[in-house]
Amino acid sequence: MELKISFLSFNSRRSISKLAHFASFPIFSLLFFSFKSIGTIYTFEKKNLLLLTEAFDPLDPNGNITIKWDVMQWTPDGYVAVVTINNYQQYRHIQSPGWILGWTWAKKEVIWSMVGSQTTEQGDCSKFKGNIPHCCKKDPTVVDLLPGTPYNLQIANCCKGGVLSSWVQDPPNAVSAFQISVGSAGTTNKTVRVPKNFTLKAPGPGYTCGAAKIVKQSRFVSQDGRRTTQALSKLNLLDLVYIIIICICSFASCNCLFVCYFVSVTWNVTCTYSQFLSQKTPSCCVSLSSFYNDTIVDCPTCSCGCQNNITQPGSCVEGDSPYLASVVNGPGKSSLVPLVQCTSHMCPVRIHWHVKLNYKEYWRAKITITNFNYRMNYSQWNLVVQHPNFDNITQIFSFDYKSLTPYGGINDTAMLWGMKYYNDLLMEAGPAGNVQSELLFRKDASTFTFQKGWAFPRRIYFNGDICVMPAPDAYPWLPNTGPLSFRPMLLRLLLFWTTLACLFIYV
Ligand SMILES: *[C@@H]1O[C@H](CO)[C@@H](O)[C@H](O)[C@H]1NC(C)=O
Ligand SMILES: *[C@@H]1O[C@H](CO)[C@@H](O)[C@H](O)[C@H]1NC(C)=O
Ligand SMILES: *[C@@H]1O[C@H](CO)[C@@H](O)[C@H](O)[C@H]1NC(C)=O
Ligand SMILES: *[C@@H]1O[C@H](CO)[C@@H](O)[C@H](O)[C@H]1NC(C)=O
Ligand SMILES: *[C@@H]1O[C@H](CO)[C@@H](O)[C@H](O)[C@H]1NC(C)=O
Ligand SMILES: *[C@@H]1O[C@H](CO)[C@@H](O)[C@H](O)[C@H]1NC(C)=O
Ligand SMILES: *[C@@H]1O[C@H](CO)[C@@H](O)[C@H](O)[C@H]1NC(C)=O
Ligand SMILES: *[C@@H]1O[C@H](CO)[C@@H](O)[C@H](O)[C@H]1NC(C)=O
Ligand SMILES: *[C@@H]1O[C@H](CO)[C@@H](O)[C@H](O)[C@H]1NC(C)=O
Repeated sequence: MELKISFLSFNSRRSISKLAHFASFPIFSLLFFSFKSIGTIYTFEKKNLLLLTEAFDPLDPNGNITIKWDVMQWTPDGYVAVVTINNYQQYRHIQSPGWILGWTWAKKEVIWSMVGSQTTEQGDCSKFKGNIPHCCKKDPTVVDLLPGTPYNLQIANCCKGGVLSSWVQDPPNAVSAFQISVGSAGTTNKTVRVPKNFTLKAPGPGYTCGAAKIVKQSRFVSQDGRRTTQALSKLNLLDLVYIIIICICSFASCNCLFVCYFVSVTWNVTCTYSQFLSQKTPSCCVSLSSFYNDTIVDCPTCSCGCQNNITQPGSCVEGDSPYLASVVNGPGKSSLVPLVQCTSHMCPVRIHWHVKLNYKEYWRAKITITNFNYRMNYSQWNLVVQHPNFDNITQIFSFDYKSLTPYGGINDTAMLWGMKYYNDLLMEAGPAGNVQSELLFRKDASTFTFQKGWAFPRRIYFNGDICVMPAPDAYPWLPNTGPLSFRPMLLRLLLFWTTLACLFIYV
C-alpha cells in the first residue's frame, strides 16, 4: 500500500486570497494527496507541507527590529508561540552580550516553558503546586541562550547569545527565535490577550517598541522542511475550522486536494532605534590628514567627554599606566560603561581618514579605525561613510562594501565592514585595537577637487551611531599652488587679453 503526497505551491497571491477570506486568521494549508489503494490498508508519508497566508534614520528610513509572535498551538490553559526577532536595519546590529526582551502580560499569564531562550528571573510561583512554571513574573525579561545549547533545548534560529547581525552584513543571522509555552491565557483567540509594553535592550537602551499589532498569520515556508511539518503536526484538531476535499478518482487511484483552515493568531511589534535614547554622549569621532598638508586634524577636544581628574578620577586610563591591567579588570569590568584610554577626545572609537595619493585618474584614501575602549571587542563592526565620490568607487581593500541608496539615485553613501574571520573583530584598546583599509576612487572631472576639504568624508557612522567631525575650517588646506589660487590669476589674464583685444578693435 502506498500513498504519495504531492505538494502544491501557490505563489500567486490572488488565487489564494479568494479562498483565504473565509477565515480571518487561518493557517492555510494545501495538501495534495495521491492515493493508491492496494487492499484496505492506507499509509501515508508526509513529504512537505506549506502554511500559507498573506502574510528616524535618514540613511535607513525603514530600519527597524520586528518581533513577531505566532501562536502555533493551543494547550489546555494557553498556547505555544514561536517568537521571531528580525533585524531589518541595514547597518545596525546587536552584538554580544546580546538582546534582552521584555513585556508585560495583559492578564495573569505564566510561562510554563521556553525553548531556545530563558527568562532571567522566575518570580513568585508560590501559588503553583506540583508543576512549577518557568516564570511567573508579570513583566518577564527574556535572554537568548548561548551557542552550544543542547539540541533538545533549541529551535531554528535560536541560541546565538543574543547576537543579531545587521541586514546587510549577514541576513541569515539577522534573525533570532524562541518558543514559549504560555499558561492561564485562555484557549481561544477571543480570550488570548496580546502582551503590552514590549521593551528591547541591546543590551543598553536605544530601542523603542510600539504596541503589538495583530497581523495576518505568518507564512512558514520551511527551509529544511522540518519546522513547518512540526508546526502543523502539533496543531490541535479542534482548531481545524473546516476542510475542503476535492478528489478526482479513476479506477486505480485518487488524486485529492485538501484545503485546511486552522484558527490562529499572530502579532507584530516594531522597535526602532534612536541614538539620542541610547547614550547621552557620542561614541566616536573623526580625525583627518592628507598628503598635501602636514597638519593632522585630530578629533575635536571633548568630542565624547572631557578628562576630568578632579571630579571623575579614573574616567580614563593612560595607555602606558603600570596599573592598566588592574584597572581594566577592576570594578565595572562587566558593566557596559566604556573604559577609555586618555585622549583629548575621550571617544571609545576614532576613525581616521587620510587622503593618501593622487594619480592622474584616481585618488586613494586610507581609513583607520582605532579602538580606545579597554572593555570592548567590537565584533561585526560596521561603518557608514558619506562622500560624493562613492558613485565612482573603484576598489576597496580588505573591507566588504555595499552602496546604500536610501533615496535611490544618489549613491554617495557606502557601508563598510570587516571581512569575516579576517578583520571583522575590532579588538579592545591596545596594539591590536585597530583595523585599516584603503579606498580607490575614480576622479570625475566635473566634481573632483582637493579644494575646501572635498576629499574628506561628509559624515561617518560607526555601528550605526554618528561620529563627531572636526569643524570644516580646521580641515587641512591645499598649499597655495592649488587650482583655487590659480583661478583668479586666470581670470585676471583673461580680462587683460579681452581688454587688449577691445582696445585693438577700437583702435
Ligand atoms: C520595518 O522594516 C521592514 C523592512 O524594512 C518594513 O517593511 C516595515 O514596513 C517596517 N515597519 C515599520 C512599522 O516601519
Ligand atoms: C479572534 O478571531 C476573530 C476571527 O476569527 C477575530 O475577528 C478577532 O479579532 C480575533 N481576536 C483576537 C484577540 O485575536
Ligand atoms: C508600560 O510602561 C510605561 C512606562 O514604562 C508605564 O507607565 C505603564 O504603566 C506600563 N504599562 C503596563 C500595563 O505595565
Ligand atoms: C510582521 O513581521 C513579519 C516578520 O518580521 C513580517 O514579515 C511582516 O511583514 C510583518 N507584518 C506587518 C503587518 O508588519
Ligand atoms: C589630568 O590628567 C592628565 C593626564 O594624566 C593631565 O595631562 C592633565 O593635566 C590633568 N588635568 C588636571 C585638570 O589635573
Ligand atoms: C577580546 O578578545 C580577546 C581575544 O579573544 C580576549 O582575550 C579579551 O579578553 C577580549 N576582551 C574583552 C573586553 O572582551
Ligand atoms: C550607484 O547606484 C547605481 C544604482 O543606484 C548602481 O547602478 C551603481 O552600480 C552604483 N555605483 C556604485 C559604485 O556602487
Ligand atoms: C562617476 O559615476 C557617475 C554616476 O555613476 C557616472 O555618470 C560618471 O560617468 C562616473 N565618472 C567616471 C569618471 O567614471
Ligand atoms: C595646512 O592646513 C592648515 C589648516 O588645517 C593650515 O593652517 C596650513 O596653512 C596648511 N599648510 C599649508 C602648507 O598650506
